[in-house]
Amino acid sequence: MKISYQSKSNTSAKTLVVFASDSNKLTDAAKDLDKKVSGTMKKAAKSEDFKGKLGESVIINAPTGVKRDKIILIGVGKELTKKNLETVGSKLFTLLNAKSSDVEIIADIKDKKLSEAEIAVAIATGLKMNSYRFNKHFTKTKKAKEIKVKSVQFTLKDVKTAKKLFTREDKVVEGTFLARDLVNEAPNILYPEAYAKIIKKELAPLGIKVTVLGRSQIKKLGMGAMHSVGQASDREEKLVIMEYKGGKKTQKNIAFVGKGITFDTGGYSLKPGSAMTSMKMDMGGSAAVVGLMKALAGRKAKANVIGVAALAENMIAGNASRPDDVVKSMSGQTIEILNTDAEGRLVLADAMWYVQEKYKPTHMIDTATLTGAILVALGHEYAGAFSNDDDMAQDLIKASKEANQPMWYLPMCDAWDKELNSDIADMRNIGQGRGAGSATAAHFLKRFVKPETKWLHLDIAGMAWQPKPKDCYPKGASGYGVRLFDKYVEKFFEK
Ligand code: BES
Ligand code: ZN
Ligand code: ZN
Repeated sequence: MKISYQSKSNTSAKTLVVFASDSNKLTDAAKDLDKKVSGTMKKAAKSEDFKGKLGESVIINAPTGVKRDKIILIGVGKELTKKNLETVGSKLFTLLNAKSSDVEIIADIKDKKLSEAEIAVAIATGLKMNSYRFNKHFTKTKKAKEIKVKSVQFTLKDVKTAKKLFTREDKVVEGTFLARDLVNEAPNILYPEAYAKIIKKELAPLGIKVTVLGRSQIKKLGMGAMHSVGQASDREEKLVIMEYKGGKKTQKNIAFVGKGITFDTGGYSLKPGSAMTSMKMDMGGSAAVVGLMKALAGRKAKANVIGVAALAENMIAGNASRPDDVVKSMSGQTIEILNTDAEGRLVLADAMWYVQEKYKPTHMIDTATLTGAILVALGHEYAGAFSNDDDMAQDLIKASKEANQPMWYLPMCDAWDKELNSDIADMRNIGQGRGAGSATAAHFLKRFVKPETKWLHLDIAGMAWQPKPKDCYPKGASGYGVRLFDKYVEKFFEK
């Protein structure tokens, strides 16, 4: 789907879209059009009780004399926020994709806070976010499932600003689509080595330095926690480091570390069958990091960002780790593995330590499909955040609101940390009781954060995968995190 901007209406597009706001206030273009069609649009709106509410729509067949097939009147509602406008765009896409292939949208929507260009771009972003399909494995119905909308032209006065704003958003959507492709891919195809190759292929041409460490290097570096997760797999674990240097030499590094379990069987603490299906998405954190790196390089962000993807497959074999094993992490701390299904924190512990040792980031964010407990708490609507720095968490909340990627800041406390004390090693990899599973996981990670590092952990177990389509997200992989992290970098690290 190609989105473009123009200053003059171009009657060649078969479908025309115009807008109304709350209480059925038509824009000027919509009013003019209604005159041209002798009031047909208003009549249809009346008979369908159209009020111009957010996402409400009326479709009319264009009368002869108007060189179009179809006219769509769609409501933007009362409050013109970027989030609401993205919702309008997302809903509009669903409408359009049912039949239209070439579309013109007359975006003459006026508001006190947002400019016409900002409004058009928010709608375009919503359209684009929803225009994603993962079709590659269909052999018979691929064509039928393809996106039908081929071209969307926005008509508005300030084309220059709209183009500039959209070019940026579009790069971030591209990063999001890459993350979706990775998460949707089947685990027999996307295993650590194959994944690392894709990362190289996607990011190296953008000027990102990609380094891949294999099993022997991981062992040599003393990453016993990371290795214990991958050791039973025929596909060796990989640590992928992505360096993007868009900032000045004097700018400090910021790090993003993602959990990349390409499949999580649970290991000997085996998952029941129903919980095991869908565990190809257990690399969603790393996919968000890879998508972020693509977005940052694509839009030439002026920041120095290190991405790390900790890739492993959590399998069972004669050489798999046992519940009761003790391993040594790169930090020197020992871990009693009491549950092999709590593997994400093990790979992250070593990956976070590595990035702190090597790149000394002032800020480090790790993101992971870490716990089922976060799904119990927040479902598929919010990611859960934990941090050792309230100011950093507040900054992420700001970015989260602007980027339309909901997250909720949750507490940490000493009692949860104590639950991790082990009888025979420095710590155990699960808490004692059944409560606060997401928090004890966060406390485990915190033990691998240096005191000078500002750190935030984002549990996206409920967000990486959307079981039903919703605004801006088709069903399946969401690419959640890319937009949030991109906005965070833009707002706080590009000065
Ligand atoms: N990958 C899972 C978490 C998960 C669950 C992600 C559902 C997405 C959807 C993780 O490795 C895991 O199994 N965590 C355990 C931790 C427990 C053993 C302390 C869990 O949540 O049950
Ligand atoms: Zn697990
Ligand atoms: Zn997992």
